[in-house]
Amino acid sequence: MKKQKNPVVPFYVIFALGIVFITAMSFVGMDQKNEIAKQLEEGDTEDVADAGDFDPEEFAQGQCIACHGGDLTGQGNNPSLVGLSLSADEVKAIIKDGTDAGMPGGLVPDGNLDEMVDYILSLGSEDAGAADEDADANAEEEVEEEVADEADAEEEADADADADKDAEEEAAEEK
Ligand code: HEC
Repeated sequence: MKKQKNPVVPFYVIFALGIVFITAMSFVGMDQKNEIAKQLEEGDTEDVADAGDFDPEEFAQGQCIACHGGDLTGQGNNPSLVGLSLSADEVKAIIKDGTDAGMPGGLVPDGNLDEMVDYILSLGSEDAGAADEDADANAEEEVEEEVADEADAEEEADADADADKDAEEEAAEEK
């Protein structure tokens, strides 16, 4: 009788690949979960700080950058807030009431609207730095944090890539 190839082997290979893939994906998921938890924590501390004295820049970092981009220069369909040629009243009305085109109103507490308007209108203007050195210092800190976060993200991406490579190697060994 002719010796037949074991027909079950391919199933083992698929099974092993599946396990490896699921394990890899759960590591990816854990990374993402940690990141989200970290972001939420940072958001919370910002809210607490806001309750005391209002820092429009910090508030914007918490509430506006998701749509308007990390440096508020806009992203996708969301316009830049830097160097606006709108009047203070117009900006105030937009921030207070929102627009039909996707800008949500009511994000900034009424009592802090003027400070937020001043801050937004100071973005991109020459003397913004002189007007608010504190804000500049904060901005630098935040940039540093962002750079650190990016480095973290890269590390995580590397780890993911390693996991993928491991998975591939294991798969190769199975064959
Ligand atoms: C959910 C996404 C989202 C968030 C969050 C958001 N915006 Fe907007 N914003 C938009 C969109 C979309 C527009 C464009 C709306 C339009 O064209 O009518 C806009 C427009 C604006 C404008 C008018 C810009 C222009 O050139 O017409 C200002 C000012 C503004 N947003 C300020 C803010 C501030 C301040 C915050 C944080 C407190 C904020 N936005 C948070 C989506 C958002």
